[in-house]
Amino acid sequence: MNLLSEVRTMTDEEHRLLNEFVSDLYGISFPDERRQLLESRLKPRLQALDMSRFMDYYLRLQYSFDEEATSFTRLITNNESYFFRETRQFDALFEEAWPEITKGVNNGGPVRILCAGCSSGEEPYTLRIFSETQRHLFPRLAMKIDGFDIDQDRLDRATRAIYGRSSLRATGENQIRRFFTRTGSELYSLNEHLRQDTRFSPGNILDTSAYPNLGSYDALFCRNVLIYFSERALHRAIENFARAVRPGGYLFLGHAESIIGLSEAFETVRFERCIAYRRSR
Ligand SMILES: C[S@@+](CC[C@H](N)C(=O)[O-])C[C@H]1O[C@@H](n2cnc3c(N)ncnc32)[C@H](O)[C@@H]1O
Repeated sequence: MNLLSEVRTMTDEEHRLLNEFVSDLYGISFPDERRQLLESRLKPRLQALDMSRFMDYYLRLQYSFDEEATSFTRLITNNESYFFRETRQFDALFEEAWPEITKGVNNGGPVRILCAGCSSGEEPYTLRIFSETQRHLFPRLAMKIDGFDIDQDRLDRATRAIYGRSSLRATGENQIRRFFTRTGSELYSLNEHLRQDTRFSPGNILDTSAYPNLGSYDALFCRNVLIYFSERALHRAIENFARAVRPGGYLFLGHAESIIGLSEAFETVRFERCIAYRRSR
């Protein structure tokens, strides 16, 4: 006999409260068209906690967030990422913006890159692989990469740097042989030298204390994250990005994301295969 309570359908009020909560906290929005998604993602957690109403879960978030944070964050985020995903922005960085960026770097120091919403590390490590393959074009390619994300589980995976086939679905066999070491039947460990100078930490795009080095980044990548943000959160994210990127540095977003007309702190730059944003001087 199943003694667990049946979870009731999410009411309008519960949807409104939960959506406001997530959106204020992380920027991620679940408007009407994504309401079912929110409901289906949270439902198993209510079942596990033996709760029948989404209101009970909302109250748990209100009053015991620290205990619930890990499970909740894992459930409401979309962590999809893979190596060599949308390479246009990487091409633009290394093939077009790089000479200007390196000119602006102080005292021959490393180029500093931030990946906001880095998930399990595929994006920052793809940047490493790109720089490795382009080393012959640019002698000075020392790079420090910081990555942060709200999902600790994903950050742990990023630090381990061991990936399955799904993360490597856009990576050619030659590249897999060159940059990874097979560690299990379908598991591949990124070679040690490509992990150097890449650090991961927990952090929220909406909270500037998450940014390890405000004002110092030559390029900031935030791809496939803002697409889920509320308008208010989007504005806050842009303000924070403007504080994180140095004057003359670049912001690269995903191909479906744009901040055109939303901020005077960035000017739009048209590269050959994508658009990016340069921090005004
Ligand atoms: C779809 S993944 C994109 C990963 C990577 N940027 C890419 O394009 O492959 C979105 C990531 O953003 C993270 N995220 C969502 N809201 C965030 C926030 N407010 N602060 C930091 N990370 C966030 C999620 O946890 C998730 O790992």
